[in-house]
Amino acid sequence: MVERLRTEHRDFRLELIEIEETSKFTSYKAIEKLKEIGRLILRHEIEEEARIIQVITEKVKEPERWVKIIQEHRGIVDLLEKKISQLEYSSQEVVEEIKTLSNDMRKHFSEEEEIVFPLMLKAISE
Ligand SMILES: [Fe+2]
Ligand SMILES: [Fe+2]
Repeated sequence: MVERLRTEHRDFRLELIEIEETSKFTSYKAIEKLKEIGRLILRHEIEEEARIIQVITEKVKEPERWVKIIQEHRGIVDLLEKKISQLEYSSQEVVEEIKTLSNDMRKHFSEEEEIVFPLMLKAISE
């Protein structure tokens, strides 16, 4: 499962780069594509919430290592549920907003890959 989540991160990263490029030319297309990919990312985050966080909370006893990342997880879900739908097609700032949003998501993926996934793998191997 962790391998598949990693593969999904890789796909999301590629899509986000494409969306950032698109946003420089047509904000309408970029936002529509972002909404589409946003739904897939949300499904991914919900799966992580359900399957990873429960195991880590139960088994990993050093909360300072993962609590912060899991709290950021709520932020990402909020971003996907609210921020994307608030983007305006005509907004001058849409390129910047999409860039910030993409950077936040990429940072989240990296933290999971570097910290949360290894903890998960360790927890389930014990
Ligand atoms: Fe996540
Ligand atoms: Fe993830």
